[in-house]
Amino acid sequence: MTKTEKYTSLIPQIQAVMDPKVDIIANMANMATMLHETFGFWWTGFYRVINNELVLGPFQGPLACTRIAFGRGVCGTSWKERRTVVVPDVEQFPGHIACSSASRSEIVVPVFQNEEIVAVLDIDSAELNTFDEIDARYLQEIASLLSDFEE
Ligand code: SME
Repeated sequence: MTKTEKYTSLIPQIQAVMDPKVDIIANMANMATMLHETFGFWWTGFYRVINNELVLGPFQGPLACTRIAFGRGVCGTSWKERRTVVVPDVEQFPGHIACSSASRSEIVVPVFQNEEIVAVLDIDSAELNTFDEIDARYLQEIASLLSDFEE
């Protein structure tokens, strides 16, 4: 299957398990695991904005740092610049926070609620150049499924 085929088959499955009656963390947890298992990423998870910093949320993969400051690393940059950040080679990204030395490329997508960023979706790959415009487009669509959830 191509990447596009994987995303287009995964999105309805994620929509089917999203439950607006439970809190956002439960839904992030299922979303992280479905993405992680479909693509075999190295690390897939969320950081939530709490008291003006990013705090580790539901994830799949190895141990990760628990807190990230505004503007720091790829996650903090995505939050500060309010945009998806695609990093083809983490060693070339100034300030990249290495939670795992096996991570080689990364994408971070902000999660918006009413134009406010409440979290970021962070995905790491153990290979270089994993993420591109296709991932950005579909992951933004997936992240937007969390826009209606209350904290
Ligand atoms: N590499 C991220 C930190 C989080 S871990 O990848 C899970 C960053 O630079 O923000």
